[in-house]
Amino acid sequence: MSNIKYQISTRSLHVHTSRALHGATQVPGDKSISHRSLILGALAEGTSQMRGWLPAGDTLATLGCMSMLGIDIERRDATTLTVYGRGLRGLEAPPAALDCVNAGTAMRLLSGVMAGQSFPSVLDGSVQLRRRPMRRITEPLRRMGAHIEDHGGGAPLHISPARLYGVTYQMPVASAQVKSCLLLAGLFAEGQTTVIEPGPARDHTERMLYSMGTPVQVDGKQITLSPGHTLQPFNMTIPGDLSSAAFLMVAACLGDGSRVELRHIGINPTRTGIIDILRAMGAQIDIEKQAQEEAGEPVADMIIRWAQLKGIDISGDLIVRAIDEFPALMVAATQADGRTTVSQAAELRVKETDRIAVMAGELRKMGAEVEERPDGFIIDGPQKLRGTTVDGYDDHRIVMSLVIAGLHAEGATTITGAGSLNDSFPGFVETLQGLGANVEWM
Ligand code: S3P
Repeated sequence: MSNIKYQISTRSLHVHTSRALHGATQVPGDKSISHRSLILGALAEGTSQMRGWLPAGDTLATLGCMSMLGIDIERRDATTLTVYGRGLRGLEAPPAALDCVNAGTAMRLLSGVMAGQSFPSVLDGSVQLRRRPMRRITEPLRRMGAHIEDHGGGAPLHISPARLYGVTYQMPVASAQVKSCLLLAGLFAEGQTTVIEPGPARDHTERMLYSMGTPVQVDGKQITLSPGHTLQPFNMTIPGDLSSAAFLMVAACLGDGSRVELRHIGINPTRTGIIDILRAMGAQIDIEKQAQEEAGEPVADMIIRWAQLKGIDISGDLIVRAIDEFPALMVAATQADGRTTVSQAAELRVKETDRIAVMAGELRKMGAEVEERPDGFIIDGPQKLRGTTVDGYDDHRIVMSLVIAGLHAEGATTITGAGSLNDSFPGFVETLQGLGANVEWM
């Protein structure tokens, strides 16, 4: 479809050695919850309010899609939104393809919603997003009765109206995007939809649906949604994104003398793998002022102090509970004492980039030794990193991880292909500067 524009980032970052970080800060709103708040707010019967929404590339893509589906969204300021929900049957046929840009979450969650509509739609995105696997959603959606055409297993996805039926689906990989896609489709299906997950993928969709009055039953690894209920609007403050906080946490753990306080961070237990992993590596992380916020999401403040990390073995449920944090953890492993081994993490290869290969390649340019495995990596530390020019591959989490590596390298580091860090953490550079790091846009 011709309305999709492809943009490759040409921005670069310059990083100088600056190990110790000091200060207190917040990080932008949770990306996963921000996507869901727009989609579920649109399907609610009435007006939802949200504060602390994430104004980043990925979530703005979802906002654009919801607007194309006829939903009015008012932005009082960048992070305060009102969504005028139109109920489960209130979406309108979009005038063109829905552009998810780089956002896998937008594409996979919206596919579930679009599969149940009475009008056709096309979901598309950037070259990067077109490369990502979509069979993991098209296959179970088809089992529910959806009419959906993919292109070699990827986007663009052409969806035509169909009658959906609830199914029981055993997911082959633990994925919150797949689970959420099917639960959202289940809202439009006849009968119950049950998803069985192999591991604890993030459960923001279940928590939000439940808080909006939809019966979602969770029985161990089995989640069942019963359709036929209107969604009640919500009023919520979105917590800071733990996956964004993770970069600052790793930087603080590595910087001799660091003390960093992070306020109002989401600590949903399906997301706290990074805290468990860093603590197992010897990190000093104190959790304070824990509270339950709206839509069932727990939040807390965190204080992170420098400590010499040690290498550990990471596998099992910790992988899905920290899936977005492994690029940063690879940097941590280069500075830890002893061997860090990560296995059962092949999912890292189908994120915005192949995050195992890309991080291994870029860390090697900085002088590190990294052993790649099909489903993970082995890093022996501590290793000296050398500043040089590295490529962020237009993957926000790669860019931020390389910035943290640059802070701990000898000499200056230049990161090309860095503009994409606005996909999840606008203000990352300014936040790090505020903590004393020497990093700037070129
Ligand atoms: C997300 C789920 C995860 C994560 C992604 C956001 C979500 O992907 O990597 O950044 O919001 O549901 P998978 O569910 O595909 O593992």
